[in-house]
Formats: sequence, C-alpha cells, structure tokens
Amino acid sequence: MNLRIKPLDEILANAEKKSLHKTLGPFQLTMLGVGGIIGTGIFVLTSSAAQLAGPGMMVSFIVAGIVCAVCALCYAELASMVPVSGSAYTYSYAVMGELVAWIVGWALILEYAVAASAVSVGWSNYFVGVMARAFDWHLPISLSKGYYAGGFINLPAVLIATLVTALLYLGTRESARVNSMLVVIKIIALAVFCALALPVIKLENFHPFAPLGTLPIGAAAATIFFAFVGFDAVSTAAEETKDPQRNVPIGLIGSLALCTVFYLLVAAGAIGSIGAQPVIVNGAGLSPGTPAFVEACKLAANSASLACSDEALAHVLAMIGWSKVASLIGLAAFLALPSVILTMLFGQTRIFFVMSRDGLLPDVLSSVHPRFKTPHVVTLITGFFVMLAAAFFPVGELANISNSGTLLAFAMVAVGVMVLRVKDPARRRGFRTPWIWFVGPLAVIGCLALFALLRGAAIKVFLIWGSIGLVVYFLYGYRASHLAKKQTQ
Ligand code: ALA
Repeated sequence: MNLRIKPLDEILANAEKKSLHKTLGPFQLTMLGVGGIIGTGIFVLTSSAAQLAGPGMMVSFIVAGIVCAVCALCYAELASMVPVSGSAYTYSYAVMGELVAWIVGWALILEYAVAASAVSVGWSNYFVGVMARAFDWHLPISLSKGYYAGGFINLPAVLIATLVTALLYLGTRESARVNSMLVVIKIIALAVFCALALPVIKLENFHPFAPLGTLPIGAAAATIFFAFVGFDAVSTAAEETKDPQRNVPIGLIGSLALCTVFYLLVAAGAIGSIGAQPVIVNGAGLSPGTPAFVEACKLAANSASLACSDEALAHVLAMIGWSKVASLIGLAAFLALPSVILTMLFGQTRIFFVMSRDGLLPDVLSSVHPRFKTPHVVTLITGFFVMLAAAFFPVGELANISNSGTLLAFAMVAVGVMVLRVKDPARRRGFRTPWIWFVGPLAVIGCLALFALLRGAAIKVFLIWGSIGLVVYFLYGYRASHLAKKQTQ
C-alpha cells in the first residue's frame, strides 16, 4: 500500500521558497508559549480538579506536567528537524504518511477549536465575577451558563468567541508586544497569588488527601492536562524563527518548565490555604459543571468551597481576606484570557489552511479575503462552531474533548520521533530528545493513559469525530490530495 509520505526534503524546500520573515528569538518564543499555556486551565479548571480529586489534585498536576514534559521533548526534536508550519500534522505527513497526517490534523481541529470554546466559557466566569464586583451587575445563571451546565445559554462566552472571530476576520493579529504584555499580566497574577496563598498554608487542609480514591486523581490529571496545552503553539511559529533548530526547543521546553513551576505552587497554595475537598452527595462525588453539581453547590454548606468556585484563583484570595487583590486577579484573567482564545483560533485556521493547501480539504478554505488578506471563510466557519459549543456546554466537558484530540496528536509526535530515529538517523537534528527510547514510549503511554482516564463524553465525541473524519477523507481528501496527483503523474 502506498502510504503517501511527503518527503522531508520537499517540505523543507517548499518552506524555504515561501519563507516568512524570521524575527522571533528564544525570549519571544518562550513568551508565545507562556501566552498559549496560562489560561482557563489554571484560572478555572483548578476547581474541577478539586471536585474530582480533592487535595490529591496536587498529584494530578504533577502527572499532567510530566506527560507534557516528555511530549515537549519529543516536539522539540521534530520541530528542530522540520521547522515549518502545520505542527504535528506536517510532521506526521513526513513520517507516517497521509492517512495518519489526516487523522492527526482532524484531531488537531478538536484540540484547537474546542479549546477556544473552553477558554471562552472560562472567560465568561471571570466576566460575570468582574461585572458583579465592579458594577454590582448580576447576570442570571440562565444567561451565563450553557444548557448542559445548569443554565440555558452562555451569552458572555458567545460574545467573546464572536469578538475574537471578528478580530481574526479583520486581520488584527495579536502583535508580539501586546502578547508579551498580557503574558506579564498573567505571570504577575500567578506570582501575587502564590505570594499571598503560600504563607497561609495549613497542612491539615491536605487531609483527607484522596477523599474519592486514587482513580479520580487520574481523571483530574486528564482534565488539568488542558492547563499545560499551548506550548505546541511555539512549534507553529518555527518558520518565523531565527535559528529555529536552537530556539524552538528553548521556547517549547522553557515555556512549559516556567508554567509547570508556577502551576505546582498555585495548586499547593490553593489547596493549603482554603482546602480542596470535593462536594459529596450521598457518598459520591458529582461531575463538575453538570446541572446536578450546580444544584448541590447552591446548598450553603458547599457554596464556599474551592470545588464550587467559578473563578478558582480569585475565590481563594477572597476567602483568605484579600478581596481587593482577588478583584484584580479576576480583572487580570478577564483581560488576558481572550489572547488564549485568539492563539487557539489562529492555530486552528493555520491547520485548516495547510490541510487545504495540501488538497485534503477544499480550496475554498484556504481562500484569502481580497481586502483583509485573512483566510476569512475558514475563520467564519470555525468561529461559528466555537461560539455554538461555548454557548451550551460546560468548561470541563469542553476541555476534556479538546484534550482527547491533543493527546492523540502528542502521542503521534512521540511515535514520529522514534520512527525517524530509525528511518533517518543521519539527518541533522538541532535538538535530540534525551533517552529517546525511554522518553518516547513514556510520552505515548502517558498520553494513552490520560486519554483512557478522560471523564464525560470526551471519548465518545472523539470516536464520532474520528469516524466522520475518515469518511470525509475517503470521500474527498484521498482523491483530491495534491501529493497523490503528483505521485500518479
Ligand atoms: N492551556 C490553555 C488554557 O489553560 C489552553 O487555557
């Protein structure tokens, strides 16, 4: 069977021909990574992790961090060998052929588009909080939570998803300076949180450590994995990077390492300062974000717990007596989270763009607006679905669905590195993954394990989405592929 492998040299030569202006150095790349990483995961999903695992979520953060670290090491090697756009999709095309590349590209749609929805819903929580604190304006639950999250429609999430889509349509790309500013705001917010929460840690708040058992700690790791995702945005900027063989690995690993340190401190501060016990009804923990959970949280005894909070970090600070600072942290999240939505939506349009340029998706998707010079069709279609999902679903469910796609793509990157070590050992690698025969399998096993531990509808949605993808490929991409046409000439 012809695997339709796109030769690496051809990919590199094409990128060289149409090369973008190379302006990014190691510092900007690290900023880009941190900008994509710090978002709804740490600011909002910390509550979901508490509901699933209790104080044991500390272990969940560590496990998710380790899986991401080994994946980042693999990403770094591939990105240093193939410093071109398209990320995991392009790498797979070069290593495992078109069908695998298609599956990875299709999974990346789940990663980026659904992540944009999840972050929109997370932003909505902070929007509601900021409005309540600043203007005493309280949006009813029916209009601030989706139908599957105990309300009817999440209007603030719809609003922000629409706004970001409009920005991308008009071509207002986040400039490196604005991004760096927002990154600094986020880092200051997390640093202030740690400075205030860590000194008031009480050891008894870590007991009982695993109130619902050990398996939920794994489920929480699968959810909180979302908080670490985004470092891969660095690899999508490879074509715009000076000395990418050296700088892309620095950006990938540097941004992830920085965020991991912060996350562990934030998690310890949140648990230790106010406790992180889950809401338990009739002896069982409820799924975070579901209507039943929202109802249980309305009960007075549970309403002040971390697990019930919509704005995890602001809530912790308010509970330990720093209400004014809590409002500022809320404001920081309110200001900075939209940049994560922008990064995700932008990444999505790029993936679609590259897939359509390869002929696997219709040409119309890579059509560029005559005036704004943006891929407007694909931006509008993606924005519409992002808005729809954000309107009705809870943040945790969306994050899990996004994680399912990300985990598959990350596992494929690790497989790709190992295949290339065998198939093409002599090719120059700017960065070599250390102990590849340990790190590679660990990345694959870690991703598969987290995938299996995903709660809710994520696995089902992934399988349905994957099946649709295969049908689309065999009905369209298989025939229309530019590579196939070239190979039969
Ligand atoms: N890691 C990003 C976030 O937590 C996607 O929002």
